[in-house]
Amino acid sequence: MNAVLEQLQKIGIVPVVVINDAYDAKPLAEALIKGGLPCAEVTFRTAAAEESIRIISQNYPEMLVGAGTVLTPEQADRAVEAGAKFIVSPGLNPKVVEHCIDNGYPVAPGTATPSEMEQAMSFGLDVVKFFPAENNGGLSMIKAVAAPYVGLKFMPTGGINATNVRDYLAYDRILCCGGSWMVKGDLIKSGNFAKIEELTREAANIVKEVRG
Ligand code: 3PG
Repeated sequence: MNAVLEQLQKIGIVPVVVINDAYDAKPLAEALIKGGLPCAEVTFRTAAAEESIRIISQNYPEMLVGAGTVLTPEQADRAVEAGAKFIVSPGLNPKVVEHCIDNGYPVAPGTATPSEMEQAMSFGLDVVKFFPAENNGGLSMIKAVAAPYVGLKFMPTGGINATNVRDYLAYDRILCCGGSWMVKGDLIKSGNFAKIEELTREAANIVKEVRG
Protein backbone atom coordinates (compact mmCIF):
# COMPACT_ATOMS: atom_id res chain seq x y z
CA MET A 1 0.00 0.00 0.00
CA ASN A 2 1.06 3.57 -0.61
CA ALA A 3 3.08 5.07 2.29
CA VAL A 4 0.70 8.02 2.72
CA LEU A 5 -2.28 5.70 2.95
CA GLU A 6 -0.38 3.65 5.52
CA GLN A 7 0.06 6.82 7.56
CA LEU A 8 -3.68 7.43 7.35
CA GLN A 9 -4.21 3.94 8.71
CA LYS A 10 -1.98 4.72 11.68
CA ILE A 11 -3.81 7.98 12.45
CA GLY A 12 -7.16 6.16 12.15
CA ILE A 13 -9.54 9.11 11.87
CA VAL A 14 -9.36 11.82 9.23
CA PRO A 15 -11.04 15.10 10.19
CA VAL A 16 -13.01 16.35 7.17
CA VAL A 17 -12.94 20.13 7.18
CA VAL A 18 -14.67 22.93 5.33
CA ILE A 19 -12.62 26.11 5.74
CA ASN A 20 -14.29 29.31 4.63
CA ASP A 21 -11.49 31.62 5.63
CA ALA A 22 -7.83 30.62 5.22
CA TYR A 23 -7.12 32.67 8.34
CA ASP A 24 -8.59 29.72 10.30
CA ALA A 25 -6.14 27.20 8.82
CA LYS A 26 -3.36 27.75 11.39
CA PRO A 27 -5.40 27.56 14.60
CA LEU A 28 -7.28 24.60 13.16
CA ALA A 29 -4.06 22.73 12.35
CA GLU A 30 -2.75 23.48 15.84
CA ALA A 31 -5.93 22.15 17.47
CA LEU A 32 -5.76 18.95 15.42
CA ILE A 33 -2.08 18.42 16.20
CA LYS A 34 -2.53 19.11 19.93
CA GLY A 35 -5.62 16.89 20.01
CA GLY A 36 -3.65 14.00 18.53
CA LEU A 37 -4.99 13.72 14.98
CA PRO A 38 -2.29 15.41 12.87
CA CYS A 39 -4.30 15.06 9.72
CA ALA A 40 -7.02 16.78 7.70
CA GLU A 41 -8.99 16.34 4.53
CA VAL A 42 -9.54 19.93 3.43
CA THR A 43 -12.54 19.92 1.13
CA PHE A 44 -12.37 21.77 -2.18
CA ARG A 45 -15.80 23.24 -1.56
CA THR A 46 -14.68 26.72 -0.70
CA ALA A 47 -12.46 29.32 -2.30
CA ALA A 48 -10.21 29.10 0.78
CA ALA A 49 -9.40 25.38 0.41
CA GLU A 50 -6.28 25.69 -1.74
CA GLU A 51 -4.75 28.47 0.35
CA SER A 52 -5.59 26.61 3.57
CA ILE A 53 -3.80 23.49 2.33
CA ARG A 54 -0.79 25.65 1.44
CA ILE A 55 -0.72 27.31 4.86
CA ILE A 56 -1.01 23.99 6.69
CA SER A 57 1.58 22.15 4.61
CA GLN A 58 4.09 24.99 4.83
CA ASN A 59 3.72 25.67 8.54
CA TYR A 60 2.99 22.22 9.94
CA PRO A 61 5.11 19.62 8.17
CA GLU A 62 4.01 17.07 10.78
CA MET A 63 0.43 17.35 9.49
CA LEU A 64 -0.77 14.91 6.86
CA VAL A 65 -2.97 17.24 4.86
CA GLY A 66 -5.01 16.08 1.91
CA ALA A 67 -7.71 17.46 -0.34
CA GLY A 68 -11.31 16.27 -0.37
CA THR A 69 -14.25 16.86 -2.70
CA VAL A 70 -11.81 16.82 -5.63
CA LEU A 71 -14.02 16.70 -8.72
CA THR A 72 -11.62 17.48 -11.58
CA PRO A 73 -8.02 16.67 -12.57
CA GLU A 74 -7.28 20.38 -12.44
CA GLN A 75 -8.38 20.57 -8.79
CA ALA A 76 -6.16 17.58 -8.00
CA ASP A 77 -3.18 19.43 -9.51
CA ARG A 78 -3.97 22.61 -7.60
CA ALA A 79 -4.33 20.66 -4.36
CA VAL A 80 -1.02 18.83 -4.77
CA GLU A 81 0.77 22.01 -5.83
CA ALA A 82 -0.50 23.60 -2.61
CA GLY A 83 0.91 20.69 -0.61
CA ALA A 84 -1.86 18.10 -0.43
CA LYS A 85 -0.45 14.62 0.20
CA PHE A 86 -3.57 12.71 -0.84
CA ILE A 87 -6.71 13.19 -2.88
CA VAL A 88 -10.21 12.12 -1.88
CA SER A 89 -13.40 12.44 -3.91
CA PRO A 90 -17.06 11.76 -3.15
CA GLY A 91 -17.47 9.50 -6.21
CA LEU A 92 -15.33 7.59 -8.66
CA ASN A 93 -14.57 9.89 -11.58
CA PRO A 94 -12.31 7.89 -13.94
CA LYS A 95 -10.69 11.08 -15.27
CA VAL A 96 -9.68 12.16 -11.76
CA VAL A 97 -8.50 8.68 -10.76
CA GLU A 98 -6.43 8.24 -13.93
CA HIS A 99 -4.90 11.67 -13.57
CA CYS A 100 -3.93 10.99 -9.94
CA ILE A 101 -2.42 7.61 -10.79
CA ASP A 102 -0.51 9.02 -13.78
CA ASN A 103 0.96 11.73 -11.57
CA GLY A 104 1.64 9.60 -8.52
CA TYR A 105 -0.94 11.27 -6.26
CA PRO A 106 -2.35 8.89 -3.63
CA VAL A 107 -6.10 8.80 -4.30
CA ALA A 108 -9.12 7.33 -2.52
CA PRO A 109 -12.18 7.71 -4.76
CA GLY A 110 -15.65 7.49 -3.31
CA THR A 111 -17.56 4.27 -3.89
CA ALA A 112 -20.89 2.98 -2.66
CA THR A 113 -21.52 -0.13 -4.77
CA PRO A 114 -19.66 -3.34 -5.67
CA SER A 115 -19.37 -2.16 -9.29
CA GLU A 116 -17.65 1.05 -8.24
CA MET A 117 -15.31 -0.87 -5.96
CA GLU A 118 -14.40 -3.20 -8.83
CA GLN A 119 -13.83 -0.20 -11.03
CA ALA A 120 -11.42 1.19 -8.43
CA MET A 121 -9.65 -2.17 -8.24
CA SER A 122 -9.36 -2.25 -12.03
CA PHE A 123 -7.30 0.96 -11.72
CA GLY A 124 -5.01 -0.92 -9.34
CA LEU A 125 -6.26 0.85 -6.22
CA ASP A 126 -6.37 -0.99 -2.91
CA VAL A 127 -8.14 1.73 -0.91
CA VAL A 128 -11.54 3.27 -1.57
CA LYS A 129 -13.61 5.78 0.27
CA PHE A 130 -17.06 4.40 1.16
CA PHE A 131 -19.45 7.32 0.90
CA PRO A 132 -21.85 8.29 2.34
CA ALA A 133 -21.16 5.44 4.74
CA GLU A 134 -24.13 5.40 7.08
CA ASN A 135 -26.68 6.07 4.32
CA ASN A 136 -25.30 3.16 2.33
CA GLY A 137 -25.58 0.51 4.98
CA GLY A 138 -22.62 1.40 7.14
CA LEU A 139 -20.34 -1.22 8.56
CA SER A 140 -22.62 -4.15 7.76
CA MET A 141 -22.54 -3.19 4.05
CA ILE A 142 -18.74 -2.91 4.17
CA LYS A 143 -18.47 -6.34 5.78
CA ALA A 144 -20.71 -7.83 3.11
CA VAL A 145 -18.71 -6.39 0.20
CA ALA A 146 -15.32 -6.91 1.80
CA ALA A 147 -15.62 -10.68 1.57
CA PRO A 148 -15.24 -10.98 -2.21
CA TYR A 149 -12.83 -8.06 -2.53
CA VAL A 150 -9.91 -9.51 -0.64
CA GLY A 151 -7.20 -6.89 -0.27
CA LEU A 152 -9.47 -3.88 -0.63
CA LYS A 153 -9.50 -1.46 2.31
CA PHE A 154 -12.14 1.11 3.08
CA MET A 155 -12.25 4.69 4.26
CA PRO A 156 -15.87 5.13 5.35
CA THR A 157 -17.04 8.73 5.57
CA GLY A 158 -20.44 10.30 6.05
CA GLY A 159 -22.54 9.96 9.19
CA ILE A 160 -19.67 8.74 11.34
CA ASN A 161 -19.43 10.08 14.87
CA ALA A 162 -17.78 9.49 18.26
CA THR A 163 -20.26 6.71 19.01
CA ASN A 164 -20.34 4.59 15.86
CA VAL A 165 -16.68 5.08 14.92
CA ARG A 166 -15.57 2.39 17.39
CA ASP A 167 -17.23 -0.43 15.49
CA TYR A 168 -15.77 0.73 12.18
CA LEU A 169 -12.26 1.01 13.62
CA ALA A 170 -12.46 -2.45 15.13
CA TYR A 171 -12.89 -4.05 11.71
CA ASP A 172 -9.55 -4.86 10.11
CA ARG A 173 -10.64 -3.88 6.57
CA ILE A 174 -11.15 -0.28 7.62
CA LEU A 175 -8.12 1.81 6.72
CA CYS A 176 -9.41 4.86 8.58
CA CYS A 177 -12.67 6.73 9.08
CA GLY A 178 -13.40 10.22 7.81
CA GLY A 179 -15.67 12.58 9.68
CA SER A 180 -16.46 16.16 10.50
CA TRP A 181 -17.85 15.74 14.00
CA MET A 182 -14.77 17.22 15.70
CA VAL A 183 -14.37 20.09 13.21
CA LYS A 184 -17.93 21.28 12.67
CA GLY A 185 -18.33 24.50 10.71
CA ASP A 186 -19.88 26.41 13.62
CA LEU A 187 -16.85 25.62 15.83
CA ILE A 188 -14.47 26.92 13.17
CA LYS A 189 -16.64 29.97 12.47
CA SER A 190 -16.86 30.90 16.15
CA GLY A 191 -13.13 30.33 16.66
CA ASN A 192 -13.78 27.62 19.24
CA PHE A 193 -10.52 25.81 18.61
CA ALA A 194 -10.37 24.66 22.25
CA LYS A 195 -13.52 22.62 21.64
CA ILE A 196 -12.09 21.27 18.38
CA GLU A 197 -8.98 20.20 20.27
CA GLU A 198 -11.11 18.53 22.96
CA LEU A 199 -13.25 16.61 20.44
CA THR A 200 -10.13 15.69 18.48
CA ARG A 201 -8.47 14.32 21.62
CA GLU A 202 -11.59 12.27 22.37
CA ALA A 203 -11.48 10.87 18.81
CA ALA A 204 -7.74 10.12 19.02
CA ASN A 205 -8.33 8.29 22.31
CA ILE A 206 -10.97 6.13 20.66
CA VAL A 207 -8.42 5.11 18.01
CA LYS A 208 -5.95 4.17 20.77
CA GLU A 209 -8.58 2.24 22.74
CA VAL A 210 -9.81 0.27 19.76
CA ARG A 211 -6.61 -0.29 17.80
CA GLY A 212 -4.08 -0.18 20.60
C1 3PG B 1 -18.49 15.31 3.92
O1 3PG B 1 -18.58 15.10 2.73
O2 3PG B 1 -18.76 16.40 4.44
C2 3PG B 1 -17.95 14.22 4.72
O3 3PG B 1 -18.41 13.04 4.24
C3 3PG B 1 -18.21 14.34 6.17
O4 3PG B 1 -19.38 13.72 6.51
P1 3PG B 1 -19.94 13.95 7.96
O5 3PG B 1 -20.20 15.42 8.10
O6 3PG B 1 -21.19 13.12 8.03
O7 3PG B 1 -18.87 13.46 8.93
